[in-house]
Amino acid sequence: MSKKKLAVIGAGAIGRMHVERARSHPDCEIVAIADPSPAAEAFARAEGLRWFADYAAMLDETKPQGAIVATPNATHLPVGLACIERGIAVLMEKPIADTVEQAAHLTRAASEARVPLLVGHHRRHNPILRRAREIVRLGRLGTPVAAMALATFYKPDSYFDMTWRREKGGGPVLINLIHDIDIMRFLLGEVVEVQAVTSNAVRGFEVEDTAAVLLRFASGALGTLAVSDCAASPWNWDLAAGEAAHYPRQHVNTHFLTGTDASLTLPLLEVWEYRSGKGWHDPLTVEQSTPHRGDPYHEQLRHFCAVIDGEEQPVCSGDDATRTLATTFAVHRAAASKAPVSV
Ligand SMILES: NC(=O)c1ccc[n+]([C@@H]2O[C@H](COP(=O)([O-])OP(=O)(O)OC[C@H]3O[C@@H](n4cnc5c(N)ncnc54)[C@H](O)[C@@H]3O)[C@@H](O)[C@H]2O)c1
Repeated sequence: MSKKKLAVIGAGAIGRMHVERARSHPDCEIVAIADPSPAAEAFARAEGLRWFADYAAMLDETKPQGAIVATPNATHLPVGLACIERGIAVLMEKPIADTVEQAAHLTRAASEARVPLLVGHHRRHNPILRRAREIVRLGRLGTPVAAMALATFYKPDSYFDMTWRREKGGGPVLINLIHDIDIMRFLLGEVVEVQAVTSNAVRGFEVEDTAAVLLRFASGALGTLAVSDCAASPWNWDLAAGEAAHYPRQHVNTHFLTGTDASLTLPLLEVWEYRSGKGWHDPLTVEQSTPHRGDPYHEQLRHFCAVIDGEEQPVCSGDDATRTLATTFAVHRAAASKAPVSV
């Protein structure tokens, strides 16, 4: 099989990571980069890749089989539509778009044009999460009861030098918690109601620095999530799951799923259950799965190529990512209204 020819639109932090992951990938190669910034031009030159300031010109000239869109959220809709109009498959970075309406527009356009659209909720490609989903699907937990997730970390002060990160929409709910909401949906299904409180008491910016969230799942299970970017804490997926070398890995759990028969922790994949007797006073046993280690970004590229070939359906479709986005926006709506919000 010949390697898929992919282009990267937006070669900032995450766009470059995709280029790096594709470098030694057996299934694909990057043929060009579109990004008007001088830094991106220098990066393309250093990588020996064709560079374009204008993504439309790049798509027309290089005719890639797929495009990885890693531009700022506000541009996701127009850039995605430009690819779809040309019949070019899209791997859209998360969030799928800036608003639920734009996300639905993009999803509809892809479906009508029959162009594959995969959204980059990359954690879904982590073998840990795949194994967790299998454990839940096999019914090992019994009836899911309650799930807890922590996304508490300390972002360095320099992170906030960029104005948008201090303003509404630039905070940890939309940037970070969206991943944990996606994990919860991936494992436990749809969220139907959200309650939330947010705070900016520590950093004092317009945007929240901390949020506490309650979820009600369609199944009847409940969830609690905490996110903070000013908490000196190891309890967050980035530090615990070891997906990227620039986060020093910590041997801790961050996600806890409980059910009537057993409970599951992530990312350490411990299943806690009763084997003799079932009650508060009986001993609990713990068993740990060890899935193979895998780089979710690498696997996501493999999957994208298989989606382009029509061999696999997107692990995160436009519809799916739109629901994750709608649930995430519900956190802000619930906090503002001080009342439960339906998703
Ligand atoms: N999956 C993840 O874990 C993850 C992590 C980080 C960022 N992201 C997402 O990736 C996207 C980019 O984030 P980032 O942190 O890399 O941002 P960034 O600011 O580092 O990079 C964005 C790049 O897009 C370029 N750009 C802007 N407008 C453009 C246009 N019209 N055409 C071509 N290039 C354009 C900019 O010059 C910049 O180089 C965002 O949607 C973000 O939410 C996802």
